[in-house]
Amino acid sequence: MTTMMKNSWYCAGWTTDVTNTPLHRKIMGQDIVLFRDSHGAVQALSDRCPHRFAPLHKGKVKGDAIECPYHGLRFDGTGTCVLNPHGSGQVPPGHHTDSFRVEERNGTIWIWIGDPDKANTDGILDTSFLVEKDMFASRTEHHSIEGNYMLVVDNLLDLTHAQFLHPETVFGKSAAERWSVSLTGKPGESDEVPLQEVWFEETETSLTAHQMMRQKPQPPLWDPIVDYGLADLHSWITWYAPSNLDLRLDLTRAGQDEKPARMIVVHLITPIDEHSCHYFVAIGWDTNIEDEEAADRVIGIVRQTLVDEDGPMIELCQTYMDGETDLFALKPLLLQTDGVAIKARRRMSKLLEMQT
Ligand code: FES
Ligand SMILES: [Fe+2]
Repeated sequence: MTTMMKNSWYCAGWTTDVTNTPLHRKIMGQDIVLFRDSHGAVQALSDRCPHRFAPLHKGKVKGDAIECPYHGLRFDGTGTCVLNPHGSGQVPPGHHTDSFRVEERNGTIWIWIGDPDKANTDGILDTSFLVEKDMFASRTEHHSIEGNYMLVVDNLLDLTHAQFLHPETVFGKSAAERWSVSLTGKPGESDEVPLQEVWFEETETSLTAHQMMRQKPQPPLWDPIVDYGLADLHSWITWYAPSNLDLRLDLTRAGQDEKPARMIVVHLITPIDEHSCHYFVAIGWDTNIEDEEAADRVIGIVRQTLVDEDGPMIELCQTYMDGETDLFALKPLLLQTDGVAIKARRRMSKLLEMQT
């Protein structure tokens, strides 16, 4: 059974990725070509020319259409063949290439692969920090991972892995300590304030995992931005089915009740197919936003975290899962800290059942 949900908005790229030079992206098992037409609108078509099946992304954009590199048929943004440069110039009716609905919002390009009548733009994740240049510095990245996209969701919904996998980047070198886990939807209410704490919240459309670290050296990710020394860090990540995640980080000086330095990191995971996925990440922060050198250091740390640390670990796990995409089929050990990741997978199973 497929693990991929068709009726959903997926990130197809950042605004800066798509120009009038055609771009190929494989999404949900489909080869897709993205381009900007003469009005600057992003169009998304099946990359396969219906004549001899040439890849359209090797062609050129001509006005509002894309010209096939093989025999020059042109297709507009609806996938309709609008020009046949040969013979009578006629095109047999019914020959077109598939087109897909696209929405470009706040620096992000979203694509809908499923039933266009079910495409409701209310569900699109807000990335407005990417365009609020007076309030946030920001950077974007795109990588791919050779693993089922839900393994990346698992990774993000349990941030306790950071102290082991990311000691030099997002977590820091603090000694590993036991996490206090509250399943009540609120932080624990004991008199003794735990130094490391996890709690969970859910709504009908989202699941959130919170993590609170107190009195720790500020994680290296923050070093280019602030110099707080000992800090308190509240991180919370919200999952929207199937695989768009919004991570918020608030950092204050340890024990201080002050306006925090804020960071937003959106992780948009788009299946390429059952065994690989795109990993689009955008990060924004609201402190020291004019400093370009600091921004380069921040994105360098993000790359190290995702590309050198998370990516290879997820790929190795997928290899050791022998290509299996159903985690539960392998009867994994379940921990309290897996709570949200497991709920997300259960919700996905229900959503996938409803799609069949
Ligand atoms: S393969 Fe595209 S025009 Fe022939
Ligand atoms: Fe990670």
